Parts: sequence; C-alpha cells; structure tokens
Amino acid sequence: MTAVPVAVLASGGGTNLQALLDALRDSTVARVARVVASGADAGALERARRSGVPTAVLAHPDDPDEVVTATGGARLVVLAGYLKRIPPAAVARLRWRVINIHPALLPAFGGPGMYGRRVHQAVLASGVALTGATVHYVDEEYDRGPIIAQWPVPVRPDDTPETLAARVLAVEHRLLPQVVIELARLGVPEKPVRLSASGSAFLVADQPSVRVGE
Ligand code: GRF
Repeated sequence: MTAVPVAVLASGGGTNLQALLDALRDSTVARVARVVASGADAGALERARRSGVPTAVLAHPDDPDEVVTATGGARLVVLAGYLKRIPPAAVARLRWRVINIHPALLPAFGGPGMYGRRVHQAVLASGVALTGATVHYVDEEYDRGPIIAQWPVPVRPDDTPETLAARVLAVEHRLLPQVVIELARLGVPEKPVRLSASGSAFLVADQPSVRVGE
C-alpha cells in the first residue's frame, strides 16, 4: 500500500503539524508530503525542513490556482493553524479533500475572527462547561463544513484562556493524526464521513468495524 500523500497548510508555529510529522513518520498509511505556509515567517516551515519535508510559501494565498498547485497533488489537504481563507474556487476543486482543526466544539465558537486566544476567551465568557477540538471539512464558509470528529475537553472553574488553550491543544495533537490516518485508511472518501470516538478508537459512524490503530 502506498502512503496517502498529505499536504499541510499552516500560518503559525505548527505544533499540530509537528504532531502529524511525529505520528506519520513510520506510517504506511499516510505521509506528510509537503508543507505550505501563508508567509515565510511561519514556524511550521522550520519543522518541515527538520523532517525533510518539501515546503512552499504562498505569494498570493487568495489565488486559487496557486493554492491548488502548492498542494502538489496531495490526496488530502490539512489546515493546521492556517489563518487565510481558502479561495472558493480552490475549495471546489479540492472538494471533501480539505480538512481543518478548530479549538472548540463547532458549530459553537467558530466563524470569522474566531481563532487563537479569542476562541477560549469566548468559551470562558459564555460559561459553558464543555469545550474541545473539532476536525471538519472545509467548505466555502468559515468553520461551517461538515464535522468529521470531535473530542470534548471539560472547562474548569479556574481556567484562563491560556490554561484552556493548552488543554485543548494537547487534545488537538491526538485528534488530528487519528483523523488523518483514518481518512487515509478509507482512501479519502469522495463523500463526507463522520468519525465517532469509542475509547481510544475512532469508528466510522456507519461502518463500525473500521477502527483507528488496527
Ligand atoms: C490550533 O489551536 C488550531 O486548532 C487552530 O490554530 C492553532 C494552531 O496551532 N486552527 P499550531 O500552529 O498547530 O501550534
């Protein structure tokens, strides 16, 4: 079996990229084939170089041709802390092959302007008892595409945006590689799939025999 090539798009430090690089290093199911940054200052680029993964920096992140070309024909495109909008024409060409990780339980606490610390501030201000991480398909609207998998994280009474962000990020680092491996194992289906957690495994909702890690 040839490992499914995955392109990772990032704008920031790239700890989720690192989680993918670590999890997929010896995988026969999926491999990080390239890393694409929205700016030359993205820390993710250095992480890619350290792992020997080819990199690209987008000169025009709003140019659909440039975005699609930069993904280099990868079967799956993962947005991991990517802060630019994927141009709708690129979304259309990569339909159900682009996924994003968001540090809250969508559809709550998502949408334009909801990123980074602001998400956790809004969660704390709302008084909810539960937050978490969501991996979802990217469509034409920010944070609105079909949900693939979620992992809940309790909010503690003494949480600050920083403590909450750290606890959610630790969960992101586990959730994202599992989802990528599972989608790759399924051959990156042409229709959206939903994975549900069961113990340490993720089950495809309508195919309960498919498990991560087996
Ligand atoms: C993560 O919280 C992710 O959910 C969000 O941006 C952050 C990226 O962090 N989309 P990193 O660059 O992977 O460390």
